[in-house]
Amino acid sequence: MVENLNELEKIVRKCNKCDLCRTRTNTVFGDGNPNAKVMFIGEGPGADEDKQGIPFVGKAGKLMNQAFLGIGIKRSEVYIANIVKCRPPNNRNPLKQESTACLDYLRNQVMIIKPKIIVLLGSVALKNILGEEYGITASRGKWIIKKDIKYMPTFHPAALLRDENKKIDFWRDLKKIKEEIEILKKSDI
Ligand code: URA
Ligand code: SF4
Repeated sequence: MVENLNELEKIVRKCNKCDLCRTRTNTVFGDGNPNAKVMFIGEGPGADEDKQGIPFVGKAGKLMNQAFLGIGIKRSEVYIANIVKCRPPNNRNPLKQESTACLDYLRNQVMIIKPKIIVLLGSVALKNILGEEYGITASRGKWIIKKDIKYMPTFHPAALLRDENKKIDFWRDLKKIKEEIEILKKSDI
């Protein structure tokens, strides 16, 4: 475990712990406020993220930006990261050995940032962080509290692009997140 994000990012840039290192253009470490109270965790970089080295800058990222606007927070206030830091070829889901190899970095990020709320975007994030026994359809929209962190699983924005019907639930979940952020902001004064 290292104590600061810049140091950790340097380590990740050179990482070859799994085969995704062979096909990446850039590692995608994370983006945002290192002291964020709220963290969003996605699955892994897509083509645009791989090119730019920044999470959620492609189509799904545009939707996330709208979501941030909708709940009245700036993207720069929160921290965004992924389960795997290198792009899986053809955007396939990360394999078990890839997410297992990469997860220590995300744990280290959480340890440094110390968020109060973690939003889990989609099934890959949910299962890797809270356990294989969780399913996104049953778990989304409900707070799950573990070790002083409140987790909110919701749909991955890419799922909304495939299925419009998921949008209503996604926005419902965002509203709950917004309410919780307001409580946090008030208790901070
Ligand atoms: N989808 C993800 O899960 N993460 C990104 O960074 C971009 C798209
Ligand atoms: Fe290392 Fe993670 Fe990239 Fe695999 S995905 S090479 S574990 S940084």
